[in-house]
Formats: sequence, C-alpha cells, structure tokens
Amino acid sequence: MAGEKGFTLWFTGLSGAGKTTISRVLEGHLRERGSKLEILDGDIVRENLSKGLGFSKEDRDTNIRRIAFVADLLSRNGVPVITAAISPYAEIRNEARELMGDRFVEVYVEASVDTCADRDVKGLYAKAFSGEIKEFTGVSDPYEAPENPEFVCHTECETPEESAEKLLAYLEERGFVPAKEAAAA
Ligand code: ADX
Repeated sequence: MAGEKGFTLWFTGLSGAGKTTISRVLEGHLRERGSKLEILDGDIVRENLSKGLGFSKEDRDTNIRRIAFVADLLSRNGVPVITAAISPYAEIRNEARELMGDRFVEVYVEASVDTCADRDVKGLYAKAFSGEIKEFTGVSDPYEAPENPEFVCHTECETPEESAEKLLAYLEERGFVPAKEAAAA
C-alpha cells in the first residue's frame, strides 16, 4: 500500500503473557486491510539473528538491541513491525523508543507471574520454580513493567481477539492504520 505509515508495536511482557498470540491475531487483521507487516518474535529471532545468545542481562540487551535495529530499518521505510520479545529492561526499551521516536508504540501485554505460571504453555515455569531453569524472567530474573506504555493488553480479563481488536482501533485512532472503510475503498 503506497504511503503506508511505518510503526513499531513493541510488545513487552512475561513469557506466556500472550505476546505471540496477540501479535498473530493482529497480523491477520492488518493483512486483511492490505497492510504490509513483519513480526520479530523473540523465540524466532533467537533461532537466527540472535542464535547463540543466552539469558544473561548482557545477552538479553544484545538481543533487544538487534530487534530494535531491524524494527527501525523496516518501520522507517513504511513497513509496520510487531516485536514480541520479553524485553525485560526498561532502559533498553527506552533506547528503542529513542531510536524510533513517533513510530514507537509500547504495548504492555499484562499478566502476572501467577497467571503465566498457571497457563505454563511451554512448561517452563515449572522448571523455573524447581530451579532447573535459572535466570527465568519473573521468577529468578527481573521484569521491569513499563511505567507509561502507550497501550496495555489486559490479558487476564480479555481474550487475545479482544486485545487485538482494541489495539487495531488504537492504531486507527493514531492514524497508523486506515479505518476499515478507507482500506476497502
Ligand atoms: S528477552 O529477555 O531477550 O526479551 P525473548 O523474548 O527473546 O527474551 O525470549 C524469551 C523466550 O525464551 C521465552 O518465551 C521462553 O520460551 C524462552 N526462555 C528460555 N529460557 C528463558 C529464561 N531464562 N527467561 C525467559 N525466557 C526464557
């Protein structure tokens, strides 16, 4: 779509909070509207761009800086980006914000450690609590929740579909995504 505005939806939240799920639902809605889009998902980035990195603060910071670098390249050329990595440290998220300025939209995918541990989709929380996995975010490693995110997905009281629809409405309001009627025209 010519003239499409680039932006980066920067999802942050605990493992299992719903970052990947919401990003995929939103991807469907955006593609229906003819939007270009790239998703930079932590799990996938760690298989290629960040292969070999672990979960020390240094390695997480490197991972997040790489994701921010690519998100900036794409979004400044009009390609919308969703990043879906825990990105636990406020300072590095703020670096990404500074890099991308108005194109940066921080989205807190909110769910407590208890909720994520109950969901335990990947079985990692059980291992973190038993000590089998060390430095696990929210259990034995820090997570710094955003203080002033542009948007919060309340995943404990809304479905991924509801969160994605609210986010889409927000993006329309901000003028990042054309309203449905305009997109169909
Ligand atoms: S980040 O901290 O660098 O932003 P990222 O989102 O890329 O993390 O990767 C997190 C994913 O790695 C989790 O969803 C989980 O599947 C896996 N993982 C493995 N070990 C850990 C750990 N110690 N802490 C958090 N996530 C881990």
